[in-house]
Amino acid sequence: MSIIIKSSRASDIKSSEITPESDYLNRREFIKKSSLLLGAAWAGRVAMPVAASTKDFSSIIKSPYSTDVPPNSFKEITSYNNFYEFGTSKKDPARNAGDFQTDPWSITIEGECKKQGRFDLDDLIKPFALEERIYRFRCVEGWSMVIPWIGFSLADLIKQCEPNSRAKYIEFTTLYDPKRMPGQKRRVLQWPYTEGLRIDEAMNPLTLMAVGLYGKTMPNQNGAPIRLVVPWKYGFKSIKSIVKIRFTETQPACTWNVTAPKEYGFYSNVNPNVDHPRWSQRTERRIGSKFWEPKQKTLMFNGYGEDVAYLYKDMDLTKYF
Ligand code: MTE
Repeated sequence: MSIIIKSSRASDIKSSEITPESDYLNRREFIKKSSLLLGAAWAGRVAMPVAASTKDFSSIIKSPYSTDVPPNSFKEITSYNNFYEFGTSKKDPARNAGDFQTDPWSITIEGECKKQGRFDLDDLIKPFALEERIYRFRCVEGWSMVIPWIGFSLADLIKQCEPNSRAKYIEFTTLYDPKRMPGQKRRVLQWPYTEGLRIDEAMNPLTLMAVGLYGKTMPNQNGAPIRLVVPWKYGFKSIKSIVKIRFTETQPACTWNVTAPKEYGFYSNVNPNVDHPRWSQRTERRIGSKFWEPKQKTLMFNGYGEDVAYLYKDMDLTKYF
């Protein structure tokens, strides 16, 4: 079974054609509409969109990497969150992140690369083509969602940074500002939150830098103004509210791996065959499903194996979990 609609890239689609939430709810209608839009775009072969931004989504490509599974509702996606900087319960981020100011926002790029410095976020992402990508999202806690992100491939940004041959990994850091992120006043985690990927994982076209969802600017509780999304890994790899990107020669320290190394590895690929020490990872509960509905089987690499299994070809994934 293939869950990824594979086709060549389509050209640009106007914001008026971004699928609103109501359309997502009717899966058949949505798929029909998507294919029509892709077809129309191909027929016209209009120019690639330019000037990506965190606010203006007037030029969006419908990504061929989207799953055809119907997405969760906007309400579900924005009211059941993990974002410890705003509290540890699932409802806390929606309750506490409302006033979080994310404009202006800058990102520092440093380490083993040519392009170094602190850049205004909108200036930094201007050259990239924004895509709408509907991805499956699997949390290590055993729940899952399907989310229509808006973003661009991290690979585009990496190429622009011109990493050198020593750049084997990439490290991301979340903002540290306890006044704006009150959860950081408590030492529930080692702040700031950091995450990392091997450079080839980061270069995989599925790895997304997301700046919005459901056609809207990224809600604060989901990691405004910019976050990572790595759909074949457990959700905690998808670090939110990023202020720093560093290219490194050695494996970066990652928050959950540092906090509980026996429970959370560096790789954290979704893997139904490797149990969490305290629970099985074989099944998942889709948020929004009814209590009588059976749990779903968790797929290897969250169903993205066709695109990412090559990255781990000779690795023992029980050891490198
Ligand atoms: N990023 C930061 N900075 N802080 C966090 O607490 N939680 C992670 C990840 N990124 C987290 C974070 C976890 S555990 C998950 S499951 C996802 O964000 C949740 O993303 P969502 O709230 O958009 O579903």
